[in-house]
This record gives sequence, C-alpha cells and structure tokens, in this order.
Amino acid sequence: MTIRNSVQASSEAQPTIVNVGLADRAYDIVIGRGVLRSLGERIAALRPGVRTAIVTDQSVAKHWLAAVEASLKAANVPSSTIVVGEGEGTKSYAVLEQVSEALIAAKIERNDLVIALGGGVVGDLAGFAAAILRRGVDFVQVPTSLLAQVDSSVGGKTGINSPQGKNLLGAFHQPVLVIADTSVLDTLSPRQFRAGYAEVAKYGVLGDEAFFTWLEANHADIFEGSAAREHAIATSCRAKAAIVSRDERETGERALLNLGHTFGHALEAATGFSDRLFHGEGVSIGMVLAAEFSAKLGMISEADAARVERHLASVGLPTHLQDIAGFTQEGLADADALMALMAQDKKVKRGRLTFILLQAIGRAVVTNDVEPALVRDFLQQKLSG
Ligand SMILES: NC(=O)c1ccc[n+]([C@@H]2O[C@H](COP(=O)([O-])OP(=O)(O)OC[C@H]3O[C@@H](n4cnc5c(N)ncnc54)[C@H](O)[C@@H]3O)[C@@H](O)[C@H]2O)c1
Ligand SMILES: [Zn+2]
Repeated sequence: MTIRNSVQASSEAQPTIVNVGLADRAYDIVIGRGVLRSLGERIAALRPGVRTAIVTDQSVAKHWLAAVEASLKAANVPSSTIVVGEGEGTKSYAVLEQVSEALIAAKIERNDLVIALGGGVVGDLAGFAAAILRRGVDFVQVPTSLLAQVDSSVGGKTGINSPQGKNLLGAFHQPVLVIADTSVLDTLSPRQFRAGYAEVAKYGVLGDEAFFTWLEANHADIFEGSAAREHAIATSCRAKAAIVSRDERETGERALLNLGHTFGHALEAATGFSDRLFHGEGVSIGMVLAAEFSAKLGMISEADAARVERHLASVGLPTHLQDIAGFTQEGLADADALMALMAQDKKVKRGRLTFILLQAIGRAVVTNDVEPALVRDFLQQKLSG
C-alpha cells in the first residue's frame, strides 16, 4: 500500500489517493470533496474507448445519478443506467437476475465496465453481477454511504443474500477504481451516517489506538463534513487496504475486520435484517459486547471496555442490547436463540465460533477456541441487564 499525498493536501484539486496493493489487481481509492466530477475523466484514462453501465438504487439516483452521467458524458464515456429498489432485499437472486439481464441487454462486453453507484447493497450486488457476467467484467465502485466508503467498496467481497442467510452467495472480485466523494455523504440520513461511523471506529479499536483517540476528539467534525471527514475515511481505507493486501481471501488477518460482527450479525438476524437495527448499529453493539467479553476473560481492563462503549454512545450509536427497541422483551432474544444465530454465521468453521477479541484498544486478535458456555453465560447476563 502506498499513499501518494498527505491528508492535509486533500481537496477537490488534490484528493487523497490510497492504493490497494494487490499486484496486477491493484487499484486506487480516490477520496475527497467533489472527486465525483473526475469520474468520467479517470475512467477514460484507465480504459480508453470503454462502455459503461451504471447500477444504482432509487434514492441514490435521485441525488447523484445526474452528476455521474454528466461526468461520463463530458469525458465521452458512453453509459446506460440500471436502477434497482433500495434496501437489503435488493441483494437477492431476483434482482441479480434483473441486473444481469439488463447488463447483457445493454451490450456490456468483456472489456467494458460496470459502475456501482450506491451504498453497500448496490456495491455488493453490482460487483457480483460484474463478477459473473461473461465470466467476469471489471467494475468501478462509487460508494455513496459512509459504510461503503470505508468498508464495503474496498477489498473485493461481492455477493447477495440467500433466504437462508446473509452474503451466502458471492465472489471475490476487486474493483479497478474506487471514487469516494465525501460530499456525497451530505445527502445520507444522519442515522445511516452514524451506522457507517461504527465501521470507522472499528478500525481504531481493532488496530490503531492513536486513531481511536483522534476519533474521540474529532468525531463532531467528521459528522459535519470538514477535512476531518476525509482524514477519517482515508485512514479507514488505508487500514482496510493494508489488511486486504496481506490477506485478500481471509485466510487469517482479514478476519480482524469482523470485530463486533459475530454478535452484530446475530442481532441483525434476530431483528429480521430490518430497519430496527442497521448493520453498523449491530456492529456497534457487537463491538461493545466483544470488548466486554474480552474484559470478562481478563484480556483487557473493564476501563478499556468502558472506553469503547463511551465513545460509540457519545456519537449516538446503540451500545447495549437494551438499546434495540423491544428487544429484550421478545421471546427470540434469549441467549440460546442468539447462540443458534451465531452458529449459522458463515465464519463458523467445523462448529467452532470465531470471535475477534481485544488484547488492548488497537490490538484485536482472532480466537477460535472460545468456550461456547462462557459466551452463553455472558449473553444471558447482558440480556438480563
Ligand atoms: N462487501 C463488503 O466487504 C461489505 C462490507 C460491509 C458491508 N457490506 C454490505 O453492505 C450493505 C450495507 O451497506 P449500506 O449501509 O451502505 O446500505 P445501503 O446500500 O442499503 O444504503 C443505505 C441507505 O442509504 C441510501 N443511500 C446511500 N447513499 C446515499 C446518499 N449519498 N444519499 C442518500 N441516500 C443514500 C440507500 O438508498 C439506502 O437506502 C450490507 O448488505 C452489507 O452486507 C459489504
Ligand atoms: Zn460491517
């Protein structure tokens, strides 16, 4: 991973560029206010003569499609557009079929490009459609949610959901370019922005204590959209790029990025992947649970676990099971039900749960040998408040 220019220099004229170092599949993440305007030019430079198809969802289309189309047109890059419905339900066989057929109808060929314009849902779906179209067409990520800019658009995981579970069908397919325009986040709802922030904080908690400390002091500026936002996004992308370049296929270290996700996914499943709990909100609660469980095992101090909780709560994220409306009163939310949901997670290997635990703030470890009974007791205790 190389960093071409400093964060201080980031502006429309001078975006921050983070390179994901994957040899012949290396690519740039271009981060900055207004960088969307350079999309057409960058694509024309990368792939002269290419045709493109933009895949986006209804909400994102309303705010940002015209700007993307204008940028492509100005650079003489032909484009067609496929608009899908928004929400997690879009990552389905049915919509994958629609998008794939539309890409074929748009005559997107082997050397053309798919452009994913949207949050993680569009990025995962369009990336997967590109991966299977004609056995693989390249694609560009234009992430429009904070979660997508710091996480899902980088690293090449693409896919859809099965009725039996989230992200169970997919492919590793790296984008050839990521354009993260930080001003695009201005139209994102505050709750969605906050949910994405949980993934930003995750990078601090799992591997960078100094960044976590910086977030504690600067989170308000990140929400406001100043240069702090670009710094936070660039730092997150660098952290992810570094891990992905060392462990693209998640045979080891990449699993650290799942901090908070074993608990979080179970909570998302228990609430039916609905608006009751956004992914990032589940990750926030999951990260606090992982920190508290690490403290229970004597790996970190209670004070460090409390520090993680305090920061996430200070930006307005949920941090306790009780923060999910009605959750602890419902029959589903008992410790055994949550254990069963965790056992379904695709990170399960031969029946053993994988947990990412903390040895310190900024030092996470992958553990495969946690005693399930300990986890169950811990959850039971948390559920009873
Ligand atoms: N591939 C990966 O590595 C990876 C990593 C993390 C998460 N994910 C996936 O990402 C998905 C979640 O992504 P998400 O949180 O971005 O959800 P999302 O794509 O559903 O976007 C959230 C909502 O915000 C809207 N939106 C997005 N950008 C907007 C903007 N700029 N202005 C106004 N509205 C906007 C969308 O229309 C949607 O309604 C999940 O399916 C998850 O599995 C994938
Ligand atoms: Zn996540």
